[in-house]
Amino acid sequence: MNISLDDPVLKLISTIAFANDTELYAIGGYVRDMILERPTKDLDIVVLGSGIDFAKKMAKSINGKTKVSVFKSFGTAMLNYNDYEIEFVGARKESYRKDSRKPVVEGGSLEDDQKRRDFTINALAIGLGKNNYGQLIDPFGGVEDLKSKIIRTPLDPGITFSDDPLRMLRAIRFAAQLNFIIETKTLQAIHENLTRIEIVSQERITEELNKIILSEKPSSGFNLLDQTGMLEIILPEIHAMKGVEAINGKMHKDNFHHTVKVLDNLCKKSDDLWLRWATLLHDIGKPVTKSYSRKSGWTFHGHDFIGAKMIPGIFRRLKLPLNDKMKYVQKLVQLHLRPVSLSKDEITDSAIRRLLYEAGDQVDDLMLLCEADITSKNKETVKRHINNFRLVRKKLKEVEEKDALRNFQPPVKGDEIMETLGLAPGREVGLIKNAIREAILDGIIRNDREEARRYMIEKAKELGIEPK
Ligand code: CTP
Repeated sequence: MNISLDDPVLKLISTIAFANDTELYAIGGYVRDMILERPTKDLDIVVLGSGIDFAKKMAKSINGKTKVSVFKSFGTAMLNYNDYEIEFVGARKESYRKDSRKPVVEGGSLEDDQKRRDFTINALAIGLGKNNYGQLIDPFGGVEDLKSKIIRTPLDPGITFSDDPLRMLRAIRFAAQLNFIIETKTLQAIHENLTRIEIVSQERITEELNKIILSEKPSSGFNLLDQTGMLEIILPEIHAMKGVEAINGKMHKDNFHHTVKVLDNLCKKSDDLWLRWATLLHDIGKPVTKSYSRKSGWTFHGHDFIGAKMIPGIFRRLKLPLNDKMKYVQKLVQLHLRPVSLSKDEITDSAIRRLLYEAGDQVDDLMLLCEADITSKNKETVKRHINNFRLVRKKLKEVEEKDALRNFQPPVKGDEIMETLGLAPGREVGLIKNAIREAILDGIIRNDREEARRYMIEKAKELGIEPK
């Protein structure tokens, strides 16, 4: 099979290879994505010889200034050109991965290199020589597997996975991203080699998890993680949400299945990785707070609060950033019941003001999460919830227009309170500050400097303080 390659970057690489008498091929994800018509700017080139030497030659012929990043111990070199990130690697006989546990890698033929790759669909190569330009080299039926939407290892999966156990997770990730099926023997081998994932670094595992979460329908990835047993190892807190229990004929829902459904719903509305994480984790406090009583049936009281408390530990273990992203996820988990409870009662302005004050800029994302959380099969219930949330959104907008409460800044600051009332720093300043904030949130005064000043003086008098 021949592929027409018009890309000037490939043509340039080919010309330089010819001038230097070097045989090389485009390989891996680039070729796969080209056939799937998913354009990518990540280009891997396998060189029969030294990838590093070739990268340097290419940089020189582009112009003297192109920077080549060399990773000597991995035998790879990278350069950026025309929006492309091009990585050059010498063809290898042994597992060529950077983190291979066998660091000695022998040079090999193209086929040696192809068979040490993870999946047939990632082992496709395209000739870039004068005589084989555009020729597809597919020794393991990768194109067929792309057509039949199958993830399969080129060698016995036990060998492929022992070269790099992360590939078990990659299989699940590709299946989720591409909507493919994992071939039976390959799937079986994931079951058998499961615990080997423990030798892989957390950063690499989390990168795959992020990619699953960023896929169009993450539930398919999470269901595979669950079916293979991987979920319990890498995300035990999510695994703990699985299952239903019945007492006196009363059942609660399976919180794992519910959660992945909510995540799918949310993914139709937002591509944001952190909102997606917040959605995945929103009910994480349920297993620990689950309880049953004759009167109330199953309850998960405080799962919002407990769930939020669990976030830092989960982020730390997964090596996710412990910065404002974590705080954002924590806040959404903590607040995820608020719009629901708001819509149950009559929606008062002050409840809306409090939500705006606490959620700040995250209020829109919080609403998206809550709307995605509607998974009832009963059409009437769904309609009722949607209408309620519509009302909450309308109210939020109205209150926002009246009072700028997002990212609330006190209209009268501590310094001004001390200055006007002649107070030294202390408890009273705090009391007055809080009283002003509460009065604004309760709608007693508007979020306005003059009103706040008047209120400050009133409060001071109540406390027996006479303004200067
Ligand atoms: N590869 C492999 N085993 C791994 C990782 C990568 O065999 N554990 C090979 C595959 O041939 C893969 C290529 O290296 O196609 C490039 O890897 P990478 O950039 O991680 O993945 P891509 O396949 O390009 O896919 P994506 O960009 O979506 O991660």
